[in-house]
Parts: sequence; structure tokens; C-alpha cells
Amino acid sequence: MRMLPIDPDEPDAETLKEAAEALRSGRLVVFPTETVYGLGADATDERAVGRVFEAKGRPPDNPLIVHVLDGEDARRVTRDVPDDAKRLMEAFWPGPLTLVLPADPRLPRIVTAGLDTVAVRAPAHPVARALLAAAGVPLAAPSANRSGMPSPTRAEHVAMDYRGHESVIALLLDAGPCTIGVESTVVDLTSDPPTVLRLGGVPPEAIQTHLPRLKVDPHARGVAVAPGTSVASPGMKHRHYAPRTPVTLFEGEDGPAKILEAHKSSLRREKKSGFIVSTQTAHQGSLQGDNIVVLGGRNEQGRWAHDLFDALRRLDEQGLDRIFVEGIPETGLGAAVMDRLRRAAARID
Ligand code: TXA
Ligand code: MG
Repeated sequence: MRMLPIDPDEPDAETLKEAAEALRSGRLVVFPTETVYGLGADATDERAVGRVFEAKGRPPDNPLIVHVLDGEDARRVTRDVPDDAKRLMEAFWPGPLTLVLPADPRLPRIVTAGLDTVAVRAPAHPVARALLAAAGVPLAAPSANRSGMPSPTRAEHVAMDYRGHESVIALLLDAGPCTIGVESTVVDLTSDPPTVLRLGGVPPEAIQTHLPRLKVDPHARGVAVAPGTSVASPGMKHRHYAPRTPVTLFEGEDGPAKILEAHKSSLRREKKSGFIVSTQTAHQGSLQGDNIVVLGGRNEQGRWAHDLFDALRRLDEQGLDRIFVEGIPETGLGAAVMDRLRRAAARID
């Protein structure tokens, strides 16, 4: 794996050319998007896509998102683009919104895990866009973490996950931290009503202004899926975002008080605990140290999204006995943040 720095605003043409050539020859390239880093392969090349599943250790029944430049480009992998899809593409593309649409039957089945629908998104990150343009093919790209780890929002996260397995990746394009920090919102437009399958970079209330019928699947809020329940998005039943250290999430109004209590009692234990808290709580309890991460104000959900996965990873490396997290309001990006935190805490499979 070659790790190459690349300017996020003015990506170098030579670097892009090298990455595009690697992709066209069936190899894997990690590239930045505005949400998280993606592990990309030529979506039209069945063997290349197979390597993505292998590299990630991803279950074969969990389909991939296909990245395209725009609505026109999306026609290369879809069978039909309904009016609702056109409206949402117009409003949110390029950006952190993935649409599930009827798949073009010529797309290798491995991409969609055998489903007759395909998830498509047009990323906004200049490097992702320049790479799509240079490669000239749609790119199948899941988040670049190894299966079960939090999504990578920095190139170092990817390098860490693939330590010892570097050869499966041809190139890692390092453009610094991702601006949003949580994955794209996944909306299924083949169901009636249209449904949010995964909360993410575009808050559901923003989508509802263009598509009032939109519903949010309760599983998308990180609520545990009972064994044997059928789920709309195959990704929902797989454990996600789980650091190795057990996570306890304190939701609701008494969250801050409970966190401070947990902090007090942890001081009496020999082994250290980790804490992810708001500025208000940190201030109130004078919390500080390597084991304390302050993500932002309680109502600065965008800041929480930006640094959440990095915080979980950093604390996970410290060999702590537990990570305690304060919940935040579920408005704006807070909905996606709380879904990821519930999954990390419940270790949802
Ligand atoms: O922000 C993102 O979406 C990032 C960047 C790299 O674009 N990608 C990403 O991909 O998060 P991944 O593979 O980690 O998550 C894709 C999600 C999974 O939950 C998967 O089950 C769902 O999308 N998905 C993919 N195809 C689907 C389909 N045809 N029907 C329903 N859900 C689908
Ligand atoms: Mg993922």
C-alpha cells in the first residue's frame, strides 16, 4: 500500500492518474469523501469488487454503495430513476445522500449482494470527484474500515486497520480529516413509503422538505434488531461502529449527571475509564486528561459527528476498562451520532 498525500481542494493530476490506472486494472484504492474514507473498486469489475469484500472481511450479503458523478452517471448502474429520486438528486447531490434504486441487471451481482436494487451516491469531495472523472467508471466503495471497526475519518485510521495486510490496497490517498465524519444517509426509494435505512450526513428533516412522505426506519436509530427479524437494509443486522472496549451511553436529561457520577467512581478504581463528553459537562466536572474527549457543545452536533469515530478509536487504543459517553439531542446530525453511539454501546449484531 502506497500512502500518498493529496491536496483536498486541488488534487494533483499525476496522483489521480496513478490511482485511476490502479482502479482500471482491478486494484483497490482508498479515497477520501466528505463523509468517511472509502475503499474503492471498479463497480463493473466483478473480481475487483470481490477483493473489496475480502479485504474488509465483509459478509457477502451486505451490498456496497456505488459512487457516481451525478444523476446522469447514475443511469449507468440503475434501471430506473423515478421522479422522487430526481428531486432528491437535484437538492442534495453531490453530497452525503445515498439513494436505493432499481439496479441495472448488467451490474455484477456481487455489488448488490444479489438484490435487484442498487445504492448510489454522488460524493462532494473534490478528490472523490476527480478520481471518478479520471477512472471513468462507477466506483463501488464501502467505508474503508475493516468490518466491525468504526468508519475511518482520517487516512491514519485506514493504515491502522490494515496493518499487516497492506498489500490488499494499491493506494491510500490522504487528504486529511473528512469534513462531515459520519457516513451518508441511505434512503430507499423502492419501498412505499420511501424510507431512511441509515441516518447520516443529511438530516431526515432536510429530506422531508422535498419528500414529506419519507419515513425513518426505527432500526436506523440504532435500536436493537431482535434475532430473526427481517431488516430492510442488510447492513442493519451487522455489528457496526464497535470499538473493542465496552461502551456505556447515558441518554436523556440526566445523562450529564450520570457521566459525572461514573467519572467520580472511576477515580476509585485501579483501571482507567474513558469519557466522551460535551463542553458543558467537562466544564461542570472539571474533567481533563488523556482519557477525556470533549467533542463540543451539547447542541453542536456537527462537531460531534466530525470527531466521533476518531474519539472512539483513540480511546479504544488506551486499554481502558470502559468508555462512558454522554448522549446529545437528536436534531440535525445528532440523529446519526446517536444511532452510531447506540450501536457502539449495544454491540448490535
Ligand atoms: O458515506 C458513505 O456512505 C460511505 C462513503 C465511502 O461513501 N460509504 C459507506 O458504505 O458507508 P458502507 O458499505 O459502509 O455502507 C453502505 C450501507 C450499508 O448499510 C448497506 O447495507 C447499505 O448501505 N446498502 C447498500 N446497498 C443497499 C441496497 N441495495 N439496499 C439496501 N441497503 C443497501
Ligand atoms: Mg461501513
